[in-house]
Amino acid sequence: MTDMTDIRFDAMDLDTLAEVTGAIAVFVEEDGTLSAGAKAVDDLAGGSVTRVVSSKGFASAKAGDLRSVNFPAGLAADLVLVVKAGPQDDPAAARKLGGKLAVAQKDSALTVLAGDRADLSDIALGLVLRGYRFTDHKTDKGKDQGPVSLRSDTPEEAAKAARTGMAVAEGIYFTRDLINAPGNVLTTDDFAARLAAMQDLGLEVEILEEDELKRLGMGALLAVGQGSEAPSKVVVMQWNGGGDAAPFALVGKGVTFDTGGISIKPGAGMEDMTMDMGGAGTVAGVMRTLALRKAKANVVGLVGLVENMPDGRAYKPGDVVTSMKGDTIEVINTDAEGRLVLADVLWYAQDRFKPTGIIDLATLTGAMLVALGHERAGVFGNSDALAEDFLAACAAEGEGAWRMPMGSAYDKIIDSHIADVKNSGGRMAGSITAAQFLGRFVKDDVPWCHLDIAGTASRSSATDLAPKGATGWGVLALNRLIADRFES
Ligand code: BES
Ligand code: MN
Ligand code: ZN
Repeated sequence: MTDMTDIRFDAMDLDTLAEVTGAIAVFVEEDGTLSAGAKAVDDLAGGSVTRVVSSKGFASAKAGDLRSVNFPAGLAADLVLVVKAGPQDDPAAARKLGGKLAVAQKDSALTVLAGDRADLSDIALGLVLRGYRFTDHKTDKGKDQGPVSLRSDTPEEAAKAARTGMAVAEGIYFTRDLINAPGNVLTTDDFAARLAAMQDLGLEVEILEEDELKRLGMGALLAVGQGSEAPSKVVVMQWNGGGDAAPFALVGKGVTFDTGGISIKPGAGMEDMTMDMGGAGTVAGVMRTLALRKAKANVVGLVGLVENMPDGRAYKPGDVVTSMKGDTIEVINTDAEGRLVLADVLWYAQDRFKPTGIIDLATLTGAMLVALGHERAGVFGNSDALAEDFLAACAAEGEGAWRMPMGSAYDKIIDSHIADVKNSGGRMAGSITAAQFLGRFVKDDVPWCHLDIAGTASRSSATDLAPKGATGWGVLALNRLIADRFES
């Protein structure tokens, strides 16, 4: 796994400030009041901070912006970052600030003189999330993000407050590593092995191989993988921190590469389909987080791992396959494969675990990108209560999401003449008909949400909290949903 930021919570210790190397960040109130740390730096550096504060640049800065002093006299440090500090009760702003500090520090050590700031755990989270660098396949790994010392009046409390955030950050790193990995590296075997390794964290991990999936009748999932040399698998990860209660289930689409199969995709941009296991990667990151923070909840994560390839043995348009549920599916388009995988994993999850609710995640449709772009994931489902809880968790964690409609009129579009259902309803309302398809594999009395993360799982440019590439979208919100539903 990509190394996490080397981050420590230390005492303020202003006496040794002159010898601190790298970058030092200090806080100044919007009205120009210097914090204790800012004052100490100002004294050593001949009034440099005061000069910044009285500059036009500081006046025009917004809360959370940085202004820098390079190679300040009187300090061993090369850079002083003066933060125009906003209110301390805004976690999103604090995370964003942490992200800016990570960008500004580059590979230098960073010392943050936070004093009595109450939002240090969120600043820390932003520093770690934005500091992620995926270098697995670079010969020259470049330099790591520099080490971070967060200096606080109450370092023990600050470290304790940051603990949950650091567990979530590690889950997000895990998700990003999976999503960023190329298709020839993250095969179904490799994916399963990375999940099995989480047994060391106390998760129970089972790998169901093809013969077992055949025995279970997973004809839809197996059809997708049959044109690939990579064996199809279902991996079950159980975290049992909540006694005897029935679990909540997370289900993920894990297509390690989606060529489209016989209904092959155009060449341009096909390389992006290495991220088509984003749903499974996100489920894995949440399970890792739950284990790391020893969540007092029972959650089972199930992922369907397949590769969608064209081949002499591949499934074809016009084929009819039989799902584990028993419903027959007419394959209109072999590129609508994610729903076939999820149909069987959803059914298996309900059949075996009788979960109190299910959330599935999938990079399911290009139409989702057309509808909501990269900013928000689509939220579908049969339960207003679950959808509203999830949207509230997204809002609290700053992850974009938007409720999408479902209904029987959309369901008719996927009726088939020769089978029970067809796997594509064409272009119109493509994300909704995909959700309707999944809904046919969810029992009426099971609260269920489907998250189409085709737009949010990976991005072509950096955001406040992630470099270009995999985002880890959903790990924060799902972790919060579980905490709020089952642990409070
Ligand atoms: N994995 C794709 C969806 C996708 C597209 C994810 C772009 C991320 C970015 C999915 O398997 C797919 O190919 N869906 C088809 C469905 C269609 C054939 C009904 C699509 O969206 O075009
Ligand atoms: Mn596809
Ligand atoms: Zn796909």
